[in-house]
Amino acid sequence: MKVANVAIIGTGYVGLSCGACLAHLGHRVVCVDNALDKVALLQTGSIPILEPQLPEIVAEGLDAGRLTFTSDLNDSVANAEFVVLCLPTPQGIDGAADMTYVFDAVSNLKDSLAPGSIVITKSTVPIGTYGEIVQRLGRTDVEVASNPEFVREGSAVADFLHPDRIIIGARTDAVAQRVATLYKDIDAPVVATDPASAEALKYAANAFLALKLTYINSIAAICDAYGADIREVVKGLSFDPRIGGQFFNPGPGWGGSCFPKDTRALTHISEQGGYDFRLLKTAIEANDLHQQSIVDKIISSCDGDVRGKVIAVWGLTFKANTDDIRDSPAIVVIKKLLKLGARMQCFDPSVSKVPTEIEGSLLAETALEATTGASALILLTEWAEFALVKPRDVFERMSSPRVVDARNLLDRESWRANGFTYRGIGR
Ligand SMILES: NC(=O)c1ccc[n+]([C@@H]2O[C@H](COP(=O)([O-])OP(=O)(O)OC[C@H]3O[C@@H](n4cnc5c(N)ncnc54)[C@H](O)[C@@H]3O)[C@@H](O)[C@H]2O)c1
Repeated sequence: MKVANVAIIGTGYVGLSCGACLAHLGHRVVCVDNALDKVALLQTGSIPILEPQLPEIVAEGLDAGRLTFTSDLNDSVANAEFVVLCLPTPQGIDGAADMTYVFDAVSNLKDSLAPGSIVITKSTVPIGTYGEIVQRLGRTDVEVASNPEFVREGSAVADFLHPDRIIIGARTDAVAQRVATLYKDIDAPVVATDPASAEALKYAANAFLALKLTYINSIAAICDAYGADIREVVKGLSFDPRIGGQFFNPGPGWGGSCFPKDTRALTHISEQGGYDFRLLKTAIEANDLHQQSIVDKIISSCDGDVRGKVIAVWGLTFKANTDDIRDSPAIVVIKKLLKLGARMQCFDPSVSKVPTEIEGSLLAETALEATTGASALILLTEWAEFALVKPRDVFERMSSPRVVDARNLLDRESWRANGFTYRGIGR
C-alpha cells in the first residue's frame, strides 16, 4: 500500500475516528484541532470521547509514531498530500448548515497547502460546497474532492474499517483514484462520482433514515391505539427485502448530532433549489410531535400531573455506546418535563455531570439510585445494562411502580409480574 501523509482538520467524533483509522491502515496522520485542551489530552493518549475501540487504535498510532496531534494548522497542512476537513457544520439560520467552520479553515490553510495536494471534505456540506471551496482556495495546483462520511457514533471505528461503501466525488477519475488509495486495504465498493452528487448523497442517506424512523414511530402509535405489538409488526415486515428490518426500532424520536441538523439543512437546500420537500418537513414535524407524545405518556402515567413529582430517567445520550448528548431526544423530553415542574433524577453510564440544557436535574451514580422515591421511571436510551436491572429492586425504591420504556428494551412480562404498570412504544 502507498503510505500517504494526511492532515485531518477537526479532531471530533469523525476526525478522531478517521485519523486513528487511517493511521491504523499505515498512513502518517496528523490530527489538527483548535481546542488546545483537547489536543493536549490526545497527545497523552487520553480520549476525550466515548467510542468503542478508539483508545486502542489511538494508542497503536501514537506508539508507532504514525499518529500525532497538534494545533498548528499551517505546518501540518504544508506536509500533507491529503487534507481532510472534518469540521462541524451545525444548524444555522433558517435551518441551513452553518459553513463558518469549514470556510474559515479553508481561508486559514489555503496558502500553506502543498502543490499537488488534495483537500477532501468529510464534513456533511450543502450541495455546491465543492465549487465554493475551489473558489475560496484559489489554487489551480490543488485539487478538491468530496468524501462524505457514514460512520455511526458508537461503532465509528468498525464502520470506518468495514464500510458499506466509499463515496468519492471528484472532478476527474484520476483525482478520485488518488483519494481511493487512502482506502486501498479496505474491502468495500468505491463509488466515484461528481462532487455535487457525493454531497447530495450524504443528505439523501440521512434524510431517508430519519424518514424510516418517523414511519415506524407512526406505525407504533397506531399499534398503541389498537393494541397491536410493533415488535411483531417489524418482525413480519423485515422479511420483505424491499423494506428490510434494519434501523426500524421505534423509540423516543430521532435525534443526535446529525439527523436534526441534516434534515433541516436538506429542506433548506431543496427550497433554494425551488423544490418544496414536504415529505421531509412533515417528518420533522411528526418527530417533534412524537417526542411530545412520550412526554404525554409520562404525564398520563402520573395521573395527569407531573408537577412536584420525582421522575427517574435512564439514559441521556441520543443512543447507546456514545457520550454524545447533542440533540438527544432524552434531553428534549427532560426539558419539557422540567418545564412542567417535574423533579428529574437521571442516570446515564457515560454522563458524569448534569448537562447545562437540563440544569436543575439530579444526576445519580447508578440506575437504581435514580429511581429512589420516583413516581415514574422513563427509559430513554437503549443502554444494554438497563435490561439487567432487577425490577424487584426498582420496585422497592420507587414511590409508584410505573415505567415508560421508550426503547422497548425491558422485559415487559417480568416488570409487570413485579407489580409495575408498564408502557412501551407501540406495544
Ligand atoms: N458525528 C457523526 O456521527 C458524524 C457522522 C458522519 C458525518 N458527520 C459530519 O462530520 C462533521 C464533523 O462532525 P463531528 O461530529 O465530528 O463534529 P465535532 O463537533 O465532534 O468535531 C469537530 C471538531 O472540529 C474542531 N474545530 C472547530 N473549528 C476548528 C478549526 N478552525 N480548526 C481546527 N479544528 C476545529 C472542534 O474543536 C472539534 O473538535 C459534521 O459535518 C458532521 O455532520 C458526523
